[in-house]
Amino acid sequence: MTITIRRTSPKDAVALARLMGDPAVVGGLLQMPYPNEQAWQARLADNAAPGKPDLSLVAEMDGDVVGAADLHAMGTALRRRHAMGLGIVVARAAQGQGVGSALMTALCDYADRWLGVLRLELTVYADNDVALRLYRRFGFEIEGTFKGFALRDGDYVDALAMARLHPNPPRIGAPAVAPAPAD
Ligand SMILES: CC(C)(COP(=O)(O)OP(=O)(O)OC[C@H]1O[C@@H](n2cnc3c(N)ncnc32)[C@H](O)[C@@H]1OP(=O)(O)O)[C@@H](O)C(=O)NCCC(=O)NCCS
Repeated sequence: MTITIRRTSPKDAVALARLMGDPAVVGGLLQMPYPNEQAWQARLADNAAPGKPDLSLVAEMDGDVVGAADLHAMGTALRRRHAMGLGIVVARAAQGQGVGSALMTALCDYADRWLGVLRLELTVYADNDVALRLYRRFGFEIEGTFKGFALRDGDYVDALAMARLHPNPPRIGAPAVAPAPAD
């Protein structure tokens, strides 16, 4: 099945609210249950503001949105401009078919080859084995543990801080950065 990756538009608000509200995925995220479609519409419109470095993508299969991922600035500190955060979600029914890998490839290429991001960061629940394997395949390493990081369905759960440093930062006069395939 062909996986198409494209930038989100405010029209994706309905699909994204549905995706984030799926009980099978919400436990892996920091989102709350019962997502708000209007809030998603506002967020997606804001993402399109000129000059914003953020990138928000969706993955489609057969014309349906089955996954989403984003790169976002880590706050407003000027000395953290070399770092960006990464988030990803794939609908339960579409998992294990390469959608997450396709989204990660697109985000890492964009960060490496177009934004020159030196440090990609993410947080993942310590028991999310599928996500941990995916991130390791793309060069992310564990940097530390947050104890009792978030309340998840009645329990405080630990999370891991992971980061991936740019494998070959571009320099003026040096050969172009090659795309970084997953191992
Ligand atoms: C984590 C998550 C994004 C992974 O997405 P995914 O689409 O399942 O990822 P992929 O399909 O690319 O890879 C998952 C596994 O399927 C395998 N796979 C990929 N394509 C495949 C295919 N065509 N056939 C069979 N298996 C395949 C991969 O090799 C990988 O296997 P591994 O875990 O043994 O290494 C998804 O499980 C998810 O959204 N979970 C809920 C939300 C969440 O936890 N998000 C992360 C927050 S930190």
